[in-house]
Amino acid sequence: MSEFAELTFRGRTIRLPATVGTEGEIGLDVSALRDEMGVITLDPGYGNTGSCQSSIAFIDGDQGILRYRGYDIADLAEHSAFLEVAYLLLHGNLPEADQFDEFAEGVMDNMLVHENLRHFFNAFPRDAHPMAVAAAVVASLATFYPESMGARRGPDAMESCRRLLAKLPTIVAWSYKQSRGVPVTYPRCDLGYVQNFLHMMFSTPYRTYEPDPAVSRAMDLMFLLHADHEQNCSTSTVRMVGSSQANMFASISAGVSALWGPLHGGANQALIEMLQYIQLAGLTARQFVDKVKNKEAGIRLMGFGHRVYKNYDPRAMVLKKAAGDVLQKLGVQGRLMDTAMELEQVALSDPYFLERKLYPNVDFYSGIILHAIGMPTNMFTAIFAIGRMPGWLSQWMEMNSDPQTRIARPRQIYTGATQRTYVPFRQRGDGRIPNRRPCSAGE
Ligand code: CMC
Repeated sequence: MSEFAELTFRGRTIRLPATVGTEGEIGLDVSALRDEMGVITLDPGYGNTGSCQSSIAFIDGDQGILRYRGYDIADLAEHSAFLEVAYLLLHGNLPEADQFDEFAEGVMDNMLVHENLRHFFNAFPRDAHPMAVAAAVVASLATFYPESMGARRGPDAMESCRRLLAKLPTIVAWSYKQSRGVPVTYPRCDLGYVQNFLHMMFSTPYRTYEPDPAVSRAMDLMFLLHADHEQNCSTSTVRMVGSSQANMFASISAGVSALWGPLHGGANQALIEMLQYIQLAGLTARQFVDKVKNKEAGIRLMGFGHRVYKNYDPRAMVLKKAAGDVLQKLGVQGRLMDTAMELEQVALSDPYFLERKLYPNVDFYSGIILHAIGMPTNMFTAIFAIGRMPGWLSQWMEMNSDPQTRIARPRQIYTGATQRTYVPFRQRGDGRIPNRRPCSAGE
């Protein structure tokens, strides 16, 4: 055995073997702990629990580093584009020209969804949240591709990856069209991935939307920066659901639902709602920050803080510049943006945030950019989902190729009542027998 730690409890000592990652991170293997010692580890929120070994993304939260397959996020943001990064995440290496053409064509050819699926959108209420629609429609794809449901690795599984990558922008854009009560717009083969998404969102039967190149670039950048973030809440959900050997569509649908929460991907929508609240309540940035610091009704500064980054989020660094460019290019001004900038300034010089190492995260600036380009607020998290798709898919594929994968099944420390004996109704309370009788009424 190489390196290990020793754990002593109630006079017994066991060895916990160390696994060292390529960037020097060390994990102590506790998998034999319960069998050998009769105890488990307890780690609410999994802040100290490694659930797998992965070669997809690396984060150093103290240094503010994020790399996809070894490539620095800032480098990729400057030189690459979303679809190339999707290939990188899925296949492990940057593509050569032929490989990229084949991959991109495969994705573009799959953007159309089955015509029967179009009718689903009419069945949702007008004000259905796009994340609810996305989760439902993604899960329903399993009914359209039953032949690929069993594929867990290899070309058939990769084909499902391309389908999901291709179809989510269509699903998201169509959920928007449905909410407006206007006809859906079909994808076009002469447009790229991002341009197609914007086209399906904003073109109408009587007017073709021509996106400003700055808008297309910012959207591509946002997708790229969101593409993977190792074992975050939604990705862990995708892995957990997939670990039961549920199909890829079911696993990704669960990931969409996990992303929806305001502490995760929903923070970009929550940020704009927070800014609107500040305006409506007539508060200054300082007054709102004081409320946050006093933890009034659990108020948090949305778009700030991160479980892993205890330094500037490197994605936020790139997006901050992009946000500045987009605001300038589109000449966007307004009180909402002013409030966001003031909040950033106040928080970044306040000891509460400095001491807790709370910096703006990716959602702070993505919310600002999406608002500036006129994206409806309730679409923000669905856009995050489009970006995160390559990461979910790569992690799902990696999990299915990992011989160490077992069904994810955490333990617990039970804190409820110890064994109790059932007491029939007649001997309980006022002794009355309920009108609504359970099957066996326990009289
Ligand atoms: N505003 C005010 N206080 C905060 C914030 C915030 N945004 N984030 C953390 N804190 C405080 C928290 O109250 C706690 O203070 P104390 O020590 O006095 O109890 C301390 O900082 C540590 O917080 P925590 O809740 O233990 O941190 P966590 O790692 O469990 O939570 C987080 C991480 C992202 C959920 C949290 O920072 C948060 O709620 N941020 C706002 C929501 C947000 O922007 N989410 C997007 C994250 S980035 C995109 C993504 O990955 O999805």
